[in-house]
Amino acid sequence: MTTDTTYGTGSANADEASSLPATSPLKGSEKTTGRVPKKRVNKSLLSLLNDACKYSAYSEYSMPSGFLRRKGSDSSRPGAKDDELQNTTQGSDNNPSSISVSVQKQRQVNKKRQSESSVNGLDENTQKVVTRKKPSRIKKKADPQSRHTSKLVAESPRKSESSVGSQPDATSSTNNLMNHKNLRKDLVSSQRANSFIEDQTNHFTRRRDLFDSDALQSKETFDCELIHSRSLSDPQRTNPNVVKLQSILYPDFEEEYTVDFNVDLSKYNPMSEIGRIIEYTVQIYVPKKIANQLRKKVVQPLNKAFDDRNQEGFIRAVETFNEIVRKVPRTDVIERLRCTEEVPTSFFHSLLHTVYVRTIHPKARSLKEYQAFSNYVYGELLPNFLTTAYAQCGLKSGDIFMDLGSGVGNCVLQAALEFGCSLSFGCELMPNASDLTTTQELELQRRCKLWGLKLCPTKFSLRTSFVDNPIVDELLPKCDVLLVNNFIFDAKLNLQIQKLIQVLKPGCKVISLKNLRPFGYTINFDDVGNIMNRLTVKRYDLPENSVSWTHRGGEYYISTVGEDIDESIFTTHSKGRVRMGRRVKYTR
Ligand SMILES: C[S@@+](CC[C@H](N)C(=O)[O-])C[C@H]1O[C@@H](n2cnc3c(N)ncnc32)[C@H](O)[C@@H]1O
Repeated sequence: MTTDTTYGTGSANADEASSLPATSPLKGSEKTTGRVPKKRVNKSLLSLLNDACKYSAYSEYSMPSGFLRRKGSDSSRPGAKDDELQNTTQGSDNNPSSISVSVQKQRQVNKKRQSESSVNGLDENTQKVVTRKKPSRIKKKADPQSRHTSKLVAESPRKSESSVGSQPDATSSTNNLMNHKNLRKDLVSSQRANSFIEDQTNHFTRRRDLFDSDALQSKETFDCELIHSRSLSDPQRTNPNVVKLQSILYPDFEEEYTVDFNVDLSKYNPMSEIGRIIEYTVQIYVPKKIANQLRKKVVQPLNKAFDDRNQEGFIRAVETFNEIVRKVPRTDVIERLRCTEEVPTSFFHSLLHTVYVRTIHPKARSLKEYQAFSNYVYGELLPNFLTTAYAQCGLKSGDIFMDLGSGVGNCVLQAALEFGCSLSFGCELMPNASDLTTTQELELQRRCKLWGLKLCPTKFSLRTSFVDNPIVDELLPKCDVLLVNNFIFDAKLNLQIQKLIQVLKPGCKVISLKNLRPFGYTINFDDVGNIMNRLTVKRYDLPENSVSWTHRGGEYYISTVGEDIDESIFTTHSKGRVRMGRRVKYTR
């Protein structure tokens, strides 16, 4: 019987070989000619080498000094270090996965495209396609001016290549639905004008019970403590340039913001946040007639003031917004929400980010307190990627989602907010990440309330391992989608995960960054019931800007638990054996 318990990436090939760093010194004549004679290389050895290189300090895969979402490094800048995640921010951050994205430049590009389209006589649809196809990466040098004014402190909700459509919910009520086509049309036109919201016109999230209209109707006051914007931008409260932003749903709630274009905005830009909040309010919350009025009287002047770095103009536009929304009858807003079953996915990403900057950023350093190259190295999967991966797994309301090694809870919270699972569960061992999970969960719950959103139930098992964890053991057999970011997990922990997942039910999907089934896995006929034999594993290309520790792409896996043995474990392996001229051995 042959068994191989080595954890490889499962995808070793010649291309990977060429991507390996040149660590082996050249010998004799090779040095002088610079040519290396071609050799047949063992594929599993390559896979091992490739894995090993991920941990090499010199490799492009080396663990970053910080393993968090970028605060503003420009990964598109030539020579930008892959792993400088905690660095001081650069002026022009064009990395779509990063927190800070150049609004100003994005706008300039949009304007340029508009004028190009009119010059070339392109019609509206053509323009739309161009805008959609072109990702928002703008490879320009940092502009010292834009360092202060051009930062959108938001997840850039860029559409990834593999991004998938919204999640239809079969149980959705069809009564009284708002006209989604109109909403999309409005969005497209607002995108074409300057906007604080990046181009996400083609990705919507559909979910039953997005809004908690009954709770909204029963309570008119907002009685929760939130982490205010000013505690980030002006903790000493010395800056006199302040504006209050009126909540659309709670007349008694305003959030105070500093409006100052002359301070360092590279880490957090309150004006961008205000811009996004106002635009989403206009798109999603206010009745249509008032929305048009707001677009003219607020959104346009607000964008202009932002572009011109005009503080007074910006504050004036916010005050006009406050005046108008205060007059909107609350019942009209609630009525509109009652009919809404679909919102731009970027709205959720933006909300998650608003929470993340308030709760995680200020304590980010604490997440770096781990032993290098251990299982506890911290890193994050980014919202755009998660939206895609969850949708690929068919995650839907009513499902149970689990994240083993949940960090600060991002993946769990996103699954609950965006996909409305019946339970979204995370387990995290490290104390600092656990503390931040609690803070982040609370802030999200409160902000969801502020926006009238229903956040589906979340649960965490914190400061505890997922191994020998009774809550994990109880939930795993019911789990529909399991996430294991095992990119940095060692072979021993991966083996423990293999033992844990034996109880998963047929149909359950597992998202992992390394193949759960070891490369060269061979069936053991003494253990045919092993779940490894019933996994159908699909490898996907990880698009660029999907994870926090590198802007580069890579791979990820979705494994589906089947009822029966996955035939491919015979075929792929036997093919390999045949190629290598060896006999296939499935012996006892
Ligand atoms: C790379 S982070 C992933 C965070 C999050 N799931 C994501 O993908 O954004 C892996 C996390 O697993 C946690 N971890 C490692 N071993 C664990 C264990 N035995 N039990 C619980 N958590 C563990 C680490 O502390 C770390 O926070």
